[in-house]
Amino acid sequence: MNRRDFIASTGAGLVTIMLGGCNFMSQDKAQQQSVALAAMDNNTDSKNDRSTKMKITVITGSPHQNGTSALLADKFIEGATAAGHDVFRFNSAFEEVHPCIGCDRCGMNGPCVYQDSMEKLNPELLASNLVAFVTPLYYYGMSAQIKTVIDRFYANNSRLHVSKKAILMATAYNSSDWTFNALTEHYKTLLRYMGWENAGMVLAVGCGTRSVIERTDFPNQAYQLGLNI
Ligand SMILES: Cc1cc2nc3c(=O)[nH]c(=O)nc-3n(C[C@H](O)[C@H](O)[C@H](O)COP(=O)(O)O)c2cc1C
Repeated sequence: MNRRDFIASTGAGLVTIMLGGCNFMSQDKAQQQSVALAAMDNNTDSKNDRSTKMKITVITGSPHQNGTSALLADKFIEGATAAGHDVFRFNSAFEEVHPCIGCDRCGMNGPCVYQDSMEKLNPELLASNLVAFVTPLYYYGMSAQIKTVIDRFYANNSRLHVSKKAILMATAYNSSDWTFNALTEHYKTLLRYMGWENAGMVLAVGCGTRSVIERTDFPNQAYQLGLNI
């Protein structure tokens, strides 16, 4: 795929920022609005079978080491590890990742001009059966930290267009029913372009702080997603 095709196929969307009305919701309601779409068959024995063992890369996007989305990542990894999967975690906000400058020296299939932490991530990413994106909601999209990493997929674009699964886990302060609309549309569009299959989402609405999310069912949902992936 050349650069022109890539740009044509991804397109440019209209982004509307709606940050008003961060109304806080009750815990019950937040839990009702949970979206955990994994196929969870609760058969942990079969998941521990070596033949189902997967290589998983978890990419986090928050600058809060012990924040809300970090908790979802921790729980997902706990579940996935208990199920016997190999997990590599890449905390974008604590790594050195230069934004893609679109120089095209990589030709979408070659070394990037920047030699930074992506050199550590890329071999893991390429070898993974599943990629987990974990981000706080920032202005109704993913954080810049994780988006910067995704933009750097560009240098391995062709090699990443292979069968993989993906999951999305995100946290937000807001609890409106449209809170995650833009993020999930972006995620689904990204997967469609990459040819990856969605294996589940945990969308933690009404979770602006660690103490709040700890009182919800979302961490358990993240654990179950990892366990049953
Ligand atoms: C720059 C910035 C933008 C944010 N934008 C939104 C937003 O658009 N909608 C929302 O509900 N919460 C928004 N929040 C709140 C965070 O999504 C929320 O506090 C989240 O739990 C933070 O996750 P973390 O603890 O993993 O960093 C924003 C926070 C920051 C710092």
